[in-house]
Amino acid sequence: MTMKLKSKYGKAIYAAGLLLLLYCSTEAVAQTDELVVNIKGKGADVSSSMYGIFFEEINHAGDGGLYGELIKNRSFEELEMPPGYTAKGDRLIPVQVVNHVTGKIVDHYSQWPTEPVPGWSLNVASSVADMKLTKENPRYETAPNNLKISIADASKPVSLINGGYWGMGIRKDEKYKLRVIIKASSKYKVEVTAKLLSQDGTELARVPLTGLKANNKWNEYNVNLLAKAHDSKAKFALEFKGEGTVYLDYVSLFPEKTFHNRENGFRNDVANMLAGLKPGFVRWPGGCVVEGATTHNRFEWKKTLGDPAARSGEYSLWGYRNTYGFGYYEFLQFCEDTGAGGMFVTSVGIGCQFRMGDACSAGKIEYYLDDCLDAIEYALGDKNTEWGAKRAAAGHPKPFPLKYIEIGNENWGDEYDKRFDMFYAAIKKKYPQLILISNHGTGGIGKIAKTDMIDPHWYVSPDFFFENAKLFDNYSRGNHTVYVGEYASNNGVGSGNMNAALSEAAFLTGMERNSDLVKMASYAPLIENSNKRDWSVNLIWLNSDQVMGRSSYYVQKMFAENKPSYNLKTNVTEGARSFKDFEAGSVGLGTYSTQAEYKDIRIIQGDKSISLDVSEFKGKKGNWNTENGVLIQTSSEANTQGIFNGFKGKDYTLEFKARKTSGNEGFLVYFAISDQGKGFAINVGGWNNTSTAIQKASGEWLSDVISKENHSIETNKWYDMKLIVKSDEAILYMDGKQVIASRNISAPKQFYAAGYDEALGEVIVKVVNSSNLPYDLNIKLDGATGIKNTGKIISMKANSEKEENSFENPTKIFPKEEVYNFPGNEFLYSFAPYSFTIVRIKADK
Ligand code: AHR
Repeated sequence: MTMKLKSKYGKAIYAAGLLLLLYCSTEAVAQTDELVVNIKGKGADVSSSMYGIFFEEINHAGDGGLYGELIKNRSFEELEMPPGYTAKGDRLIPVQVVNHVTGKIVDHYSQWPTEPVPGWSLNVASSVADMKLTKENPRYETAPNNLKISIADASKPVSLINGGYWGMGIRKDEKYKLRVIIKASSKYKVEVTAKLLSQDGTELARVPLTGLKANNKWNEYNVNLLAKAHDSKAKFALEFKGEGTVYLDYVSLFPEKTFHNRENGFRNDVANMLAGLKPGFVRWPGGCVVEGATTHNRFEWKKTLGDPAARSGEYSLWGYRNTYGFGYYEFLQFCEDTGAGGMFVTSVGIGCQFRMGDACSAGKIEYYLDDCLDAIEYALGDKNTEWGAKRAAAGHPKPFPLKYIEIGNENWGDEYDKRFDMFYAAIKKKYPQLILISNHGTGGIGKIAKTDMIDPHWYVSPDFFFENAKLFDNYSRGNHTVYVGEYASNNGVGSGNMNAALSEAAFLTGMERNSDLVKMASYAPLIENSNKRDWSVNLIWLNSDQVMGRSSYYVQKMFAENKPSYNLKTNVTEGARSFKDFEAGSVGLGTYSTQAEYKDIRIIQGDKSISLDVSEFKGKKGNWNTENGVLIQTSSEANTQGIFNGFKGKDYTLEFKARKTSGNEGFLVYFAISDQGKGFAINVGGWNNTSTAIQKASGEWLSDVISKENHSIETNKWYDMKLIVKSDEAILYMDGKQVIASRNISAPKQFYAAGYDEALGEVIVKVVNSSNLPYDLNIKLDGATGIKNTGKIISMKANSEKEENSFENPTKIFPKEEVYNFPGNEFLYSFAPYSFTIVRIKADK
């Protein structure tokens, strides 16, 4: 397609292949939004570790995913249960331990396989041959199960089949490395042949395991199979000819070509997708797996070292066994191979608090702390240290690039805070260079003494990210920085559509702009094997033969590939936005790090006055009580909230008396709250009791500031509060004086970030247009000299917000790059509907 470009100076430029129209005319500029990028206005540096990845063994992300192993249940350990767990049909019931916060036992279970030997089958009736799991004379005590195959009738060959993880993606002319640990009873006198078979049974490769002695001793075979043809759902078979009993301890099959040709390595196609994200860091091993449903099936890194055949694995809370094949060494090696900093997440001896949530005894905490210190020594210690020596013996004398330790995962409460302080002090003392991360969110750091970084998580609907794209603009800077360790738009987005991707891009503009505060971010979860989706929306999808990125993947990639060295100050002048009504909704009250009392609460509508009964107040967060008709909130939490069930309406006045009894800030008054919990709040005495603002509210979360005034409140004083809510205006009076007023403006649909890439001498402007219409934006580079008129535009767009990539059409939504001729330091660009665009312009700073 050819389009006509007109520069400000009337020069006509013709560009081929442009999908979007660029033109410049003063009349158009006057009516459109303008983004002024101040080239001399240096904002926050963007850290090299800003965009990273979060790996967890969930959705078969590792086993049957990134990890190269093709055989499912290679070590026959799949049905080994965590201590004290029991199976009932297809459910695994955890050991009945009490949750350390509630003191109660939670009703929880995970999925449990029902096949007698998961992954394996025989091609004959059990009267001809049968198989059973046994722990007789194990080859490795740490992985004791083996498969006993008894062949009674040798008239026909018997095949033991493994279908892999929903088929094996076998490629023509590629070699596959087979390792078999096998034992034949003294009565066994037959041949064993290893084969690769296509889905319909055609032989793709074969190799005999010659010289198997019937001596009741374990033998090991390492042979290669060369595939004659491609098959996406191939199978592996061991064919037995003869009568007797054989035992298999381990059957492993890897593609010869792995990522960076590592032994026990990763699927090339999948690892390359991850490398394509240019990860600044890799977080491992999770996620909830770090904690376990109970501490009994937490992730144990020490069990992931050494010979894969001897690794026990663990039946994880995601409902399948983690083989531990992708272990600590492999993680550290992957960090080195991709140039990423390693982030190890350690258990603090607390089981997942969303599941059973047990906490080990005080006396055992030190065991977990030592375990963490050993992990650090394994990565960083000199080869003369105990754990450094083990690393060196494993083939890596030099330290690995471990840089971050996250202490616990999604743990909270006093018990966690106490443990965090112990871990923080001990790790910092020995390894001051490591950055230590706590599990706290943006609501506060509880009772801990100090953390380097907090780790808020957001799994939300797109609206949340759109509405909170400026969340960090007003977030107080203090003693710690922020790692947004898990975030995704995964609610109401199908399997992960363009709206999800655009909302994440909008949120990312806010993180990047505030990179003095937000130093790192990782989307979660990273990978799913689409045959086993444990979590609703994931970044990368794969099956035995294919790997693809959702549109969210390309958002991550575009941010990582276009990370500026530092931000540039911007000023956005938005044209008129339409007013939106404050819709009919409920009202509510809350506090922010403050204790308060409320009474005499009533709604006036026309000439009707309705008393809001405190018994109809539903406290959602905080500690709410009533005494003599007074509503009392005593918790010190941020964003407490409760809603009055008795009222829902439009055009009203809310009157009440409010008194702060103690705390740092003040009252929250919620209004126009929808049934989904969305609406507005007046944050009275916010920002450490320096300001009062009208903000958007989503649940208890406050976001966009719509208007803000300097204002503070007194403690122990009863105020007469009056909030007038009209269809397009809200006004708050306190003791008869107007404190704040605001009009409701439609939610933004466009989002921006700008920065400078010092290495390439380029200005980078990122624009998200989540609307269904083209968005004309006048971009002005203020203070720029030496602008070269060639640059590029990288843009990803969709025809609808619901559009998704799929295995059939994996690049339907995909960033396209165009060479672009910029007319000067000011130009008007029309951003496509549903698009995320990056503009790169060469300019001296
Ligand atoms: O990313 C999936 C899960 O979400 C992680 O395991 C956990 O940390 C969070 O609850």
